[in-house]
Amino acid sequence: MNHCVVGLQWGDEGKGKVVDILAEHSDIVVRYGGGANAGHTVIVGDSRFALHLLPSGSVRPKVICVIANGVVVDPDVLGTEIDTLAQKGISLDGRLHISENAHVVLDYHKREDQLCEESLGKNKLGTTVRGIGPCYADKVGRSHALRMGDLRNLEVLKTRLRTIVEYKNKLFAALYGAEPLSADAIFEKCESYAERFLPYLTDTTEFLHQSMAEGKSILFEGAQGSLLDLDHGTFPFVTSSNSSSLGMPAGCGVPAKCVDKFIGVIKAYTTRVGAGPFPVEQDNDIGQYIRDKGHEYGTTTGRPRRCGWFDAVAVAYSVTIGAIDSVALMHLDTLAGLKELKICRAYKINGQERTFFPANMATLAQASPVYETLPGWDQDITEVTNFQDLPVNARDYVCRIEQLIGRPVTIIGVGPKRTQTIFRH
Ligand code: GDP
Ligand code: IMO
Ligand code: MG
Repeated sequence: MNHCVVGLQWGDEGKGKVVDILAEHSDIVVRYGGGANAGHTVIVGDSRFALHLLPSGSVRPKVICVIANGVVVDPDVLGTEIDTLAQKGISLDGRLHISENAHVVLDYHKREDQLCEESLGKNKLGTTVRGIGPCYADKVGRSHALRMGDLRNLEVLKTRLRTIVEYKNKLFAALYGAEPLSADAIFEKCESYAERFLPYLTDTTEFLHQSMAEGKSILFEGAQGSLLDLDHGTFPFVTSSNSSSLGMPAGCGVPAKCVDKFIGVIKAYTTRVGAGPFPVEQDNDIGQYIRDKGHEYGTTTGRPRRCGWFDAVAVAYSVTIGAIDSVALMHLDTLAGLKELKICRAYKINGQERTFFPANMATLAQASPVYETLPGWDQDITEVTNFQDLPVNARDYVCRIEQLIGRPVTIIGVGPKRTQTIFRH
């Protein structure tokens, strides 16, 4: 069986935990999109890992890890991540494959991300400043792009880097009055990247197809969330890749029909980091309660996450565009203690009720949520392992979400640990 796990909201749904659990029965785990903007948390015993580029299956020593062509690789972050795992006794030797076609995030991408955000002032996108947008822009623009495979020929790379850095320096100076970057310093870093990462470079598309032919079980790990998808999310407040499941085939060269099951991950409420419309946002005591109880602070940037009620309109949309089969609902425990819970079942836009999510900024900005209210529960549910043992109000809440999004909730998170999970059906 091949599975694909993808976030259905604005990211940070708990994909890391779900992938880690499913990786127990997978031979290979593949990251196919995004870059070090992702922060996927996996907890193993007393150890907490925040993974940015390595697939969340990497903490399981027998799992083969693939970073496919759709990922933008920041070699500094990847190196640190491999070292951190090694310090905890987890080696990636012989079980990490990096696509030679994955694009490389270099210092000038991060610099451009920062300069551009600063220049926008209050209109900034609120990016993670990890150089993601500028790197994908270079990929699409082609002439100034560098891929992991380019590290194989350092002589050619040196000449190309000179041209690219000269171009970027002119641009940054003219637009932002910025100090120039040194092409030589970036080249020296590339030499060290080549030494470290060339052994991992693979034709990952060939590897994945060969592995499928051998009957291996593959788990595709999405980054970000479907509503941050460049084409189908809340543009321009999105990331620069197709972060819904629609990005999976292009991001790794495996057709979607090779996936047996698409599993969507949601939180029992909604969060978002960075700017952009967020109809169900609770910028009040309720939002603060969820933020404190759910530790809703960014895994990558530490920023407080914006919190709000569950938005069934948004999730039903992600389910539809993503061909989602079943859903993992995380953080149900976080809602304990709230007297009432609201679920947004429709939007009111220009006096009309609408249940299909408008992924158009101007329309979405006019949407006011139509809520239904359900009773909450007080009991701590963090030790519950059986659906029937949940308080009746918690069960009803899950069942109502299932009805509204039209898919079964088969996994429920009641805490960050592996064991704090309920399996259904
Ligand atoms: P990802 O980006 O989708 O992998 O999610 P993050 O790791 O950025 O954020 C999810 C956070 O919630 C992490 O701190 C997880 O340890 C934590 N978490 C995951 N599932 C649950 C859950 O069911 N309950 C609670 N309380 N925490 C959870
Ligand atoms: P995971 O994989 C939450 C958001 C940023 C910003 C927008 C653009 O952990 O769910 P970018 O740096 O990508 O150009 O920023 O996208 N964003 C995320 N939000 N979780 C993520 O990843 C995110 N990756 C990017 O906050 O609003
Ligand atoms: Mg995250």
